[in-house]
Amino acid sequence: MSKNTLTLRDNRTGKTLDLEIQQGVAGPPVVDIRSLYGEMGIFTLDPGFKSTASCTSQITFIDGEKGILLYRGYPIEQLAEKSSFSETAFLLMKGQLPNQQELDEFNDLLTHHTMVHEQLLNFYQGFRRDAHPMAIMVGVVGALSAFYHDSLDIHDPQHREISAIRLLAKIPTIAAASYKHSIGQPFIYPDNHLDYSSNLLKMLFAVPSEEYEVNPVIAQALDKILILHADHEQNASTSTVRLAGSTGANPFAAISAGISALWGPLHGGANEAVLNMLHEIGDVKHLPKYLKRATDPDDPFRLMGFGHRVYRNHDPRARVLREEAQKVLTALGRHDDPLFKLALELERIALEDDYFIKKKLYPNVDFYSGIIESAMGIPSNMFTVMFALARCVGWIAQWKEMIVDKDQVIGRPRQLYTGAAQRDYLPINKR
Ligand code: ACO
Repeated sequence: MSKNTLTLRDNRTGKTLDLEIQQGVAGPPVVDIRSLYGEMGIFTLDPGFKSTASCTSQITFIDGEKGILLYRGYPIEQLAEKSSFSETAFLLMKGQLPNQQELDEFNDLLTHHTMVHEQLLNFYQGFRRDAHPMAIMVGVVGALSAFYHDSLDIHDPQHREISAIRLLAKIPTIAAASYKHSIGQPFIYPDNHLDYSSNLLKMLFAVPSEEYEVNPVIAQALDKILILHADHEQNASTSTVRLAGSTGANPFAAISAGISALWGPLHGGANEAVLNMLHEIGDVKHLPKYLKRATDPDDPFRLMGFGHRVYRNHDPRARVLREEAQKVLTALGRHDDPLFKLALELERIALEDDYFIKKKLYPNVDFYSGIIESAMGIPSNMFTVMFALARCVGWIAQWKEMIVDKDQVIGRPRQLYTGAAQRDYLPINKR
């Protein structure tokens, strides 16, 4: 018997099967169960995929116990401090950091694809004025496939590249327009003189009747937020993009599916929920009451922005954002921000609480991102949109990786059926 196998024995029949244990570059070993059904006629049951790897990937690595996050091997802290969002996007999508010429060419490509087809803007008029910007994002990003037919052949590497650039370049324009629509202001066209984050800020906050000057502190902080959110291996939305893409659906459709998955309050919607929760708590004196509710098993209330499926020590992104929040608030003359103070105090007492210690619940990336974005003037219903915009890079990188993966087949989970056994149809008067 090989050392690198896991032997499975079916006690009903005595039949055994050696399954190969594979070790990646880092992370826990993985048992390859692909032959299980064919050899033993057995499926595995793993709701929520707590013990299941859905693919091999070279893009992002997380060590949840140690609180490590690497993009293509580079620690997130170094990228947040030293890189830019577009450079990080290049890294995630192409596997290596660019040299100066490659970065200039990439930035040039992004800059010159920021405009959307003028007819696409008509879509916005079809949404109610009070539509949630994420609802608009789902619709408009999906609708890109109705406008850019010339890049939809997923088997053509050039088409994939063009679609990737289009998505990355146009998503800030689409996101800003969804905000402008919701507040009844005219759309602001992209400005090719600005970098990715500065251009996004201008499209969000400028109005045609006034000059708009980008605050470099805010632009830099936004760039950092985008870097921190750019990828996170096989999370719910990325797995959704991969699953939708595995059917051969075009990338615009697959990424629109990812946006839908991200919207939920247990995933990307948590940053909006954190701010709502902090407003609801209102004052430090109410914290013990809310903490008690969060630890009561009969109360569905959870501390939003706490806990993570993978991180069981700390979320490295939350650490960077906590520091960044301090910097941005100080730069904006809001170092006494009551919401930030409330968040710091909530973090302090939760981290001393037995329940949170025992269950290894720490602040996640969403805990501080909403506070910074709110200080930047971004309304809470746009937080998840900002997340989607940043994560678009990861979705594209993962989708591209999946398309060329020789093991890639349509994603199709099985089930343990617990419904009625076969029975005969009864006419209605006999039921
Ligand atoms: N507040 C109170 N209790 C919590 C919290 C929380 N925020 N998070 C988890 N728990 C408890 C659970 O009730 C559970 O208790 P039990 O063992 O007594 O049943 C235990 O901790 C383990 O939690 P699970 O839900 O099993 O963990 P899972 O990995 O399935 O969920 C999740 C992770 C969804 C992030 C969860 O921690 C949560 O709901 N957090 C709040 C929402 C949030 O902040 N989401 C953002 C995640 S980061 C991101 O998507 C970018």
